[in-house]
Amino acid sequence: MELLKPYLEANKQRFLDELLEVLRIPSVSANPHHKADMERAATFFKEKLIAAGAENVEICPTGGHPVVYGEKIIDKKLPTVLVYGHYDVQPPDPLELWESPPFEPVIKKTAIHPEGAIFARGSADDKGQVYMYVKAFEAMMQNGGVPCNIKFMIEGEEEIGSVHLGDFCKSNVDKLACDVILISDTSIVANDVPSITTGLRGLAYVEVEVTGANRDLHSGVYGGAVANPINVLAQMIADLHDKKRKITIPHFYDDVKVISKKERKEMGKAPFDLAAYKTALDIDKVHGEKGYTTSERVSIRPTLDVNGIWGGYTGEGAKTVLPSKAYAKISMRLVPNQSDEKIFKLFEAHFQSLAPASVKVKVTPHHGGMPAVTPTDTPEYAAAHQAMEATFGKAPIPKREGGSIPIVALFEKVLGSKSVLMGFGLDSDALHSPNEHYGLFNYYKGIETIPYYFKYYAALKKSNT
Ligand code: BES
Ligand code: MN
Ligand code: MN
Repeated sequence: MELLKPYLEANKQRFLDELLEVLRIPSVSANPHHKADMERAATFFKEKLIAAGAENVEICPTGGHPVVYGEKIIDKKLPTVLVYGHYDVQPPDPLELWESPPFEPVIKKTAIHPEGAIFARGSADDKGQVYMYVKAFEAMMQNGGVPCNIKFMIEGEEEIGSVHLGDFCKSNVDKLACDVILISDTSIVANDVPSITTGLRGLAYVEVEVTGANRDLHSGVYGGAVANPINVLAQMIADLHDKKRKITIPHFYDDVKVISKKERKEMGKAPFDLAAYKTALDIDKVHGEKGYTTSERVSIRPTLDVNGIWGGYTGEGAKTVLPSKAYAKISMRLVPNQSDEKIFKLFEAHFQSLAPASVKVKVTPHHGGMPAVTPTDTPEYAAAHQAMEATFGKAPIPKREGGSIPIVALFEKVLGSKSVLMGFGLDSDALHSPNEHYGLFNYYKGIETIPYYFKYYAALKKSNT
């Protein structure tokens, strides 16, 4: 009989209702106004973990938003799986582009999700995905218990760079000790093409400020004689790429690990439909570094993108002004073996060098994060492979992804444990965008697959010793 199927079937509606309840809490970590909502979301996870049978459940304070911890240790000699996820979400703006309010979840059918998807901020990233573990854990506990030890660590600052999680891990090394970290915060290729994420990009995020004159000026009286920081900034940004869309920062690519033709060919086997990609985004042509495919551009190649740019007059009508300042937020996605700290320094030096003497430039680094690759020749990975194969009826393919979960590299450094990235979302789920959604198929498939992971992992570890 399929593992836990009757229990999952019997409790389907409740599993959904509970998720909708936590999706109604606007746990936006970036906005201090939502501090109480962050506490509410943490409390929700704490209570549900206790109800499911976890022990030593606590809301652990950090320098920022708290971490929810819980565990079920059945035998110290058995392997331990640490489940990581985040209960914080990205700000929902721009609100006017949502078809339904971001914190009032509704279920709607889409072409990709014919059985329905939950529309709400955080549905896929990551409340929906981390809640699958709480329900899978409950199902295991109600049906004979867990086959190995389990620990939960659900944080509230992933979307703002996990700023306090490094210190939290360093002060709780024993508490968090584990054999593997299991994370569902990534995607699969398609609902009928399961995949396991084997690499994530790193991140170096900076803010730049360009200052011209000491005050805004009349653009007729001074225009043409004094540097316009917006014009200058636009030129400096343009200079960061060459004609082949390569980043021009000297030494930027020095540490990029060369991937052999053979490896690229292997990676290229993952299905990718360029025409469907363009149609879904309503673009006539893709755009990126010459010599690489779209899949490669978003996985094995580093990038530099302006995320926001502002300055001068942006209100109603026209104001003739030569602004004093211009700003931009710029992110660089990094690949092995680039280091965020080194890239911050290279960026700053180069950006300063691009500035004409008529302006002053300030570069402020925001959060960073190291890229990560996960091994595929371990029992930890094999368990995910077997679990997905059991529930999807198809072997999952390994796939590197473009997003970042900086804590993955940090876990390895501080805890000495590797992660397995067994996500269940889709790239088309509109993460960080208006109308984020998570398929009901994906939510239930995750809850179904997780107990298999524990079963196979325990068995693989047993046969290894
Ligand atoms: N879950 C995402 C990362 C992700 C999404 C990985 C899709 C792979 C596929 C995570 O919540 C996220 O958004 N991370 C941020 C980085 C963070 C430092 C703000 C990102 O990638 O921008
Ligand atoms: Mn996430
Ligand atoms: Mn995110």
